[in-house]
Amino acid sequence: GRKIILDCDPGHDDAVAILLALGNDNIDLLGITTIGGNQTLHKVTYNALAVLEQAHAYSVPVAAGCASPLIRELETAPGVHGDTGLDGVDLPKPSHDVIGKHAVDFIIDTIMGNEPKTITLVPTGPLTNIAMAVRKEPRIVERVKEVVLMGGGIHVGNWSAVAEFNIKVDPEAAHVVFNASWPVTMIGLNLTHQALCTPARQRDIESIGTPTADFVSHLMDFFRKSYAENQGFVDPPVHDPCAVAYLLDPEVITTRKAPIDIETKGDLTLGMTVADLRAPAPADCHTQFGEKLDVDRFWGLIHDAIAHIGEG
Ligand code: BDR
Ligand code: CA
Repeated sequence: GRKIILDCDPGHDDAVAILLALGNDNIDLLGITTIGGNQTLHKVTYNALAVLEQAHAYSVPVAAGCASPLIRELETAPGVHGDTGLDGVDLPKPSHDVIGKHAVDFIIDTIMGNEPKTITLVPTGPLTNIAMAVRKEPRIVERVKEVVLMGGGIHVGNWSAVAEFNIKVDPEAAHVVFNASWPVTMIGLNLTHQALCTPARQRDIESIGTPTADFVSHLMDFFRKSYAENQGFVDPPVHDPCAVAYLLDPEVITTRKAPIDIETKGDLTLGMTVADLRAPAPADCHTQFGEKLDVDRFWGLIHDAIAHIGEG
């Protein structure tokens, strides 16, 4: 399967992204690295371990990363994910702990220790760890296969009128990641707002009838409530698994190449992912964004992964 490192801040949708990666043999989840974002580093790291516990996935290493952005104060999202970062479920107590290596070093060592162009980075939180890894060991830029991240959007925001949470929390880190010459696929809000967990999709997951299916359904109950109260959504958009789904089946998301850069100064536009849509993209363009989601296929992948996890 595709070798990936999932760099995340669980987070309801991060938890679903973890389960999607675990439940599909075409993905080889080499490790989970955590980043302060939806909640503090301590809380999201605990949550990552608890989600693995829920799925009985004891062999996936978890490495804790940066607690705060490169130069700014961490802004968390309790209004979306609650005080724990995963409110709404009873988390199993983790029986395993993090490995004794910082996430940035885990990322570097994994990329440098594997064949060139075999490792894909999948960040679904603020990009601090990834930017730090690029600065500490620039050779990873040439060596990774690609970066497929959830963040940003084509001129749509959720943390401001035009900026998305993961980018807005650490725009300087995002600037580093988007300006490194590796292939970057941005799975942004314009795409993930198509991944709505409708009641019918949720019933379909529940019909699997396992503890993990139940777990996901309870996550979605809380997510529905917070998105209704805070963001004016009827059904919650399940952002992060879209990035994993793209790797499992590229047909599930259509993409378009365009230069993308990050606003780090604007009064109104801080953290905006500015895409130059004046076609055609230059030949050396290394950035692209997700445009259209095959909704049935996406939920099919989620369903199959949860079913595959079985009694976990
Ligand atoms: C992103 O922000 C977080 O709240 C979610 O987990 C997702 O990664 C959506 O803007
Ligand atoms: Ca996330």
